Amino acid sequence: MLIRNCWYVAGWSHQFEAGKPTQRMLLGEPVVIWRTQEGALVAMEDRCVHRLAPLSLGRIEGNAIRCLYHGLLFDADGRCREIPGQDAIPDSACVRTYPAVERNNWIWVWMGDPDRADPSRIAPSKALDDPAWVLKTGELHYRAHYSLINDNLLDLTHLAYVHAASFGADEAWSRNRPRVEPIAEGVRSSRWIVGTPPTPPLGKAAEHERVDIWTSYDFVLPGVFLLYSALFPTGSAEAFGYDAPPAHAPSLFANFTSQAVTPTSESTTSYYFSWGPAAEHGDEAMAQAMIDVAIMAFNEDKTMIEAQQRIIDTDPGRRVMPTSADKAITLFTRLMQSQDG
Ligand code: FES
Ligand SMILES: [Fe+2]
Repeated sequence: MLIRNCWYVAGWSHQFEAGKPTQRMLLGEPVVIWRTQEGALVAMEDRCVHRLAPLSLGRIEGNAIRCLYHGLLFDADGRCREIPGQDAIPDSACVRTYPAVERNNWIWVWMGDPDRADPSRIAPSKALDDPAWVLKTGELHYRAHYSLINDNLLDLTHLAYVHAASFGADEAWSRNRPRVEPIAEGVRSSRWIVGTPPTPPLGKAAEHERVDIWTSYDFVLPGVFLLYSALFPTGSAEAFGYDAPPAHAPSLFANFTSQAVTPTSESTTSYYFSWGPAAEHGDEAMAQAMIDVAIMAFNEDKTMIEAQQRIIDTDPGRRVMPTSADKAITLFTRLMQSQDG
């Protein structure tokens, strides 16, 4: 199931240069993303109305794009403005366009009903120049249905097994159950891991053999993961009543990650992410070290999930058997099913 009425991340802002149309596959549809001379972002079907060649092989001319097969010229609103050697331009000579917004260094494209494209529904990821954080970026491309990646992010018990080598997470992550609650357009998962080795062992947290880790993340439609994690001296979880730490409680180390899961087709998925320390706890070098570990960890996920997909494909009718760790997956799956496609 691929939901249309959502904002999908199509990539990083810097990947869409002026004068250079770029193709993305979104929900199995070819989309060309380009910028007008004024820098405005345009997303349109990457399919010329003439003989269906990709406009991403075309040329930007001011605020229009020319198909470089037989030269039809299309305005940013998709209407054909010129057919070389022909005066009459049929009304049908119009390429579909999609609402597109640039926010927090991601390009967001709305694949559904354009009248319902409300930018206030864009997930509140962190901008790369947010002064509170030092963030580095990465991306991966999967041969797997995107719901498997969503499921992976909705259940972090896998940290203990998939990421023992990279994140160094211990088995407390699999035994502990988060508090899971519905929020607008998604699910919030929060928990304390008490008296555990610091993960990541950075900043002042490195001076402690054991810490209390607060982790809280929102997972919102269609697949955006926004996680805040902070490490505190042991005893803090109890002192805070096992609730969220007060906003200004000083932590030993805090970090934030924004991650977006975008189905490029029914069987392939793109995954864009940023991660890094709070500016008060880390610098560029630390952010780089963190993203290096994150990329290692996300490749561990990729190995497992692509292998899982191959097994699923051998017998797609097989049902899963949920455990108590799957509560957030169940809530989010229900939310997805309540969407109108
Ligand atoms: S296919 Fe685009 S002009 Fe012919
Ligand atoms: Fe993972």
